[in-house]
Amino acid sequence: MGHLGIIGGSGFAALPDVEVAHREWVDTPYGAPSAELLTLRHAGQAFYFLPRHGAGHSIPPHAINYRANVQALADRGVTDVVALGAVGGIAADCGPLRLCVPDQLIDYTWGRLSTFYDGADGDVMHVDFTAPLTPGLRERLLAAAAGAGMDVHAGGTYGVTQGPRLETAAEIRRLERDGCDLVGMTAMPEAVLARERGLNYALLAFVVNWAAGKADGEVTMADIEANLARCADAVRRLLLALVAA
Ligand code: HPA
Repeated sequence: MGHLGIIGGSGFAALPDVEVAHREWVDTPYGAPSAELLTLRHAGQAFYFLPRHGAGHSIPPHAINYRANVQALADRGVTDVVALGAVGGIAADCGPLRLCVPDQLIDYTWGRLSTFYDGADGDVMHVDFTAPLTPGLRERLLAAAAGAGMDVHAGGTYGVTQGPRLETAAEIRRLERDGCDLVGMTAMPEAVLARERGLNYALLAFVVNWAAGKADGEVTMADIEANLARCADAVRRLLLALVAA
């Protein structure tokens, strides 16, 4: 087992009731990460935690310094990144409160700094991205879920939109035709930057709303926030099961 780093998403600025052994601002050539890097301790294991939206959830998805975040984890020796993400559900079996470990991504984002190989140092690199979410790490997450008696959806395609607005119903129909089961705003370029740095990367997505047009009425922040709170304990439990495994 390597060194685990968790990237927290919406609703996860920290992991409640887990000992914080250390906190530090990590300086990187790409600027500052979203927040202090926390070293957490559970079951005799140390692991890192970095909230991608900042400690006070103030950084929107398109403005996150994904390169600094991934570099900070790589610099501290992290080999395995588990990234949390609140998502909208598109597929019928991915409704609100479902935990999912997707196996594919489609990137609809634009204008984000999405590579370490931007030509600045004369290096051109085309990483393989056939399986964007590391199979071995996904399997460890799923095994931890099974060991904890938790029902988690294995597989599926996460479509990454630009945000910060939510999608139109027609955009969600298009994502569905493309084969997306889930929609979120942050898995890219995070996943590819992890790949470029040679890190294993898996997503633990939790569904906080039906995507636009998949249920009657509008998607409200009140519903999203209520469902975030309802998912929090299961997400925490699964992460701690993974750490202890
Ligand atoms: N769309 C995009 N991102 C999201 C959603 C959604 O419906 N819900 C949570 N993150």
